[in-house]
Amino acid sequence: MIIQPRTRGFICLTSHPQGAAQNIKNQIEYVKSKGEIANGPKKVLVIGASTGFGIASRISAAFGSGAATIGVFFEKPAAEGKPGTAGWYNSAAFEKEAHEAGLYAKSINGDAFSDDIKKQTIELIKKDLGQVDLVVYSLASPRRTHPKTGVAHASVLKPIQEPFTDKTVDFHTGVVSDITIQPVENSEDIANTVAVMGGEDWKFWIEDLKAAGLLAEGAKTVAYSYIGPELTYPIYRNGTIGRAKDDLEGTVPAINAILSDLHGVAYVSVNKALVTQSSSAIPVVPLYISLLYKVMKEKGIHEGTIEQMQRLFAERLYTADGKVLLDDKGRIRVDDLEMRADVQAEVAALWEKANTENLTEISDIEGYRNEFFNLFGFNFDGIDYNADTNEVVAVPSIE
Ligand code: NAI
Ligand code: NA
Repeated sequence: MIIQPRTRGFICLTSHPQGAAQNIKNQIEYVKSKGEIANGPKKVLVIGASTGFGIASRISAAFGSGAATIGVFFEKPAAEGKPGTAGWYNSAAFEKEAHEAGLYAKSINGDAFSDDIKKQTIELIKKDLGQVDLVVYSLASPRRTHPKTGVAHASVLKPIQEPFTDKTVDFHTGVVSDITIQPVENSEDIANTVAVMGGEDWKFWIEDLKAAGLLAEGAKTVAYSYIGPELTYPIYRNGTIGRAKDDLEGTVPAINAILSDLHGVAYVSVNKALVTQSSSAIPVVPLYISLLYKVMKEKGIHEGTIEQMQRLFAERLYTADGKVLLDDKGRIRVDDLEMRADVQAEVAALWEKANTENLTEISDIEGYRNEFFNLFGFNFDGIDYNADTNEVVAVPSIE
């Protein structure tokens, strides 16, 4: 099979196994180049471990502090002339590299929202690791079947009060246009989005792990949130997804209560806006990201997912004195560089000006596009994208 990128809207339908492997190797090299994460995690469960912030967290734990990792994700292997998903190839490459480095790494492929996958994960931890000392919660999904009620919830990306009109970009063509997004029609849209992307499932995981005695003394857990600039508030932080993030952040005290007798702690880390499969689906956000990348790269402070997660582990979660820097709402902030006043002022000025004609010049739309294709294993140097890729790519620990 010759695998070339095939896109439909903001989705790429194909992924390249050798390219994905290169992507993972590059991330591993970065983490190694930063040296050992002192006092880092040793036994780690990553939920949502195959792409974006989740795979970067897994790599940071494994190659930053030699952690054994179990990754849970929902991906597909290749079948009948169709390539597998990027997260499948990422996980195959990750496990191979981890095993070669002498690190324990196993994966579970299935619906993390379900009781069954939680049970399978618990059995695996019991059998192989005994306990875990870090649980990373990095799921991003458009839907969730609730394990107790059986209700299928679908999330929406909408403003709450009024229609929202602003600029957006089709990052494939570079065409900037106005988009109007109608607000939610009823409170069910909000409730469904909170059910999918809020904190309940994170809490369910921690409850089940605790009940099974699988959390180590002092165990930590972290989930990821986003705030961003005022210009994206209507569609992001003040929209349906923002309500879900409020709920996720609001779950921290309940999880801390579950962990308290173990002296464990739950954190939400607010991360930087980055090109991932999830963020490319949000209107307006890709244009913001392409302007942000331009400004941050010019200032020499740009980070991708792996730089963000390595810094989260090395400079926030696992510090020399054990102190974790938090904002006034108790959150970790690795969006600190994105939110710097000088960065935001420059992005806001560019936002006013941005149009189809000047986009290539004033934004990093090229970098956006390149990173988007990188997510699927494309656009890497040294890979022959015209060559046949006939090998069966397995995640070693699955089947
Ligand atoms: P992503 O789409 O790259 O990763 C999602 C992960 O969840 C994948 O590993 C996927 O396999 C897994 N997954 C989805 N549904 C699943 C299911 N039912 N069962 C098991 N696994 C499932 O997304 P990304 O961007 O890395 O998002 C992770 C978290 O980071 C989310 O909470 C997101 O809101 C947050 N975040 C993202 C930012 C961004 O700019 N991309 C910025 C700040 C926070
Ligand atoms: Na992820």
